[in-house]
Amino acid sequence: MLILGIETSCDETGLALLDSENGVLAQHLHSQVDMHVAYGGVVPELASRDHIRRVLPLLDSVLQRADRDTAQIDAIAVTSGPGLAGALLVGVSIAHALGYALERPVYQVHHMEGHLLSPLLSQPAPTFPFVALLVSGGHSQLLHVRDWGNYHLLGETLDDAAGEAFDKTAQLLGLGYPGGPAVSRLAEFGDPGAITLPRPMMGSGDLNFSFSGLKTAVLTAVRRAEAGNVCEQERADIARAFVDAIVDVLAYKAMRALDQTGLSTLVVAGGVGANSQLRARLQTELSARGGQVFFPPLDLCTDNGAMIALAGLAKLKRTRAAAENHQPLAFSVHPRWSLAQALTS
Ligand code: KG4
Ligand code: ZN
Repeated sequence: MLILGIETSCDETGLALLDSENGVLAQHLHSQVDMHVAYGGVVPELASRDHIRRVLPLLDSVLQRADRDTAQIDAIAVTSGPGLAGALLVGVSIAHALGYALERPVYQVHHMEGHLLSPLLSQPAPTFPFVALLVSGGHSQLLHVRDWGNYHLLGETLDDAAGEAFDKTAQLLGLGYPGGPAVSRLAEFGDPGAITLPRPMMGSGDLNFSFSGLKTAVLTAVRRAEAGNVCEQERADIARAFVDAIVDVLAYKAMRALDQTGLSTLVVAGGVGANSQLRARLQTELSARGGQVFFPPLDLCTDNGAMIALAGLAKLKRTRAAAENHQPLAFSVHPRWSLAQALTS
């Protein structure tokens, strides 16, 4: 079965063709970073307009790369939330137009289910059950993943997401957008221990996170350094202190989640899963306890169409009969949407 995945929830247009037997046949991603960089962040209206320009050329590109044509597509999966309303509408309306024209079912999927399942596209792939640490620009969650579509939320952030904390720290350090990779690189030059930042909610006894206080602590450290004419080394020390703090908290809570569920496999997904310091730390922790940690390849960590096609396959398995008999022409998007709501829709 051939599934087309379409992702347009934020600032990346991602399309992919997934063969249910043979994996990803082709994928193509267009990042809007160069367009938004002048504004220091994503401009929603520009994002929507750019998605409109990109989706169909990217569809042609993946069909060509996979040596397939539209008639061979069996189902279409599209991100319908959470994300920017206008950006989501582009993908969802194109998916429905294609579904109508080709007489194929359209599966509207949750963006985070895509991230959650993305490690299954890597080799070797993890097997169920596992604990998933989802860390993106909009989410920080720990989930107990028992099977396809069977996910139990263990803990989540009470305020900022981990990626958001990286992006805000980048802004405070004058590193611009997108912030995560830049903070991570600068941290490599920082002196560990030169500055210490708090580890929020480390002792909370639950599996929730909170990162907004960490951002305020970074702001205070930057102001203190600025008072004495901040130098490059100080900025690197602050970046290092921030990365050490966030990695400590994420690793600590992930280990508690493994303890609580009695599982030994951890899967990390979402944009922050591309972070080299987090990867190294989790690798060390899991080897020490005889467990295994899985990261999707870097191109599957951030937003992409392949993970959406895979989430579509999961939804197809759950709702196959209903979708085959029902091809609605009306559709909507869900800018705010919990994974639990998505699984029952
Ligand atoms: O999953 P993603 O591509 O989009 C969302 O669904 O949000 O995640 C984007 C987030 C951004 O906040 C970005 O700064 C962060 O992931 N990110 C990183 C790294 N690469 C991307 N954060 C830390 N280190 C990285 N190497
Ligand atoms: Zn994402």
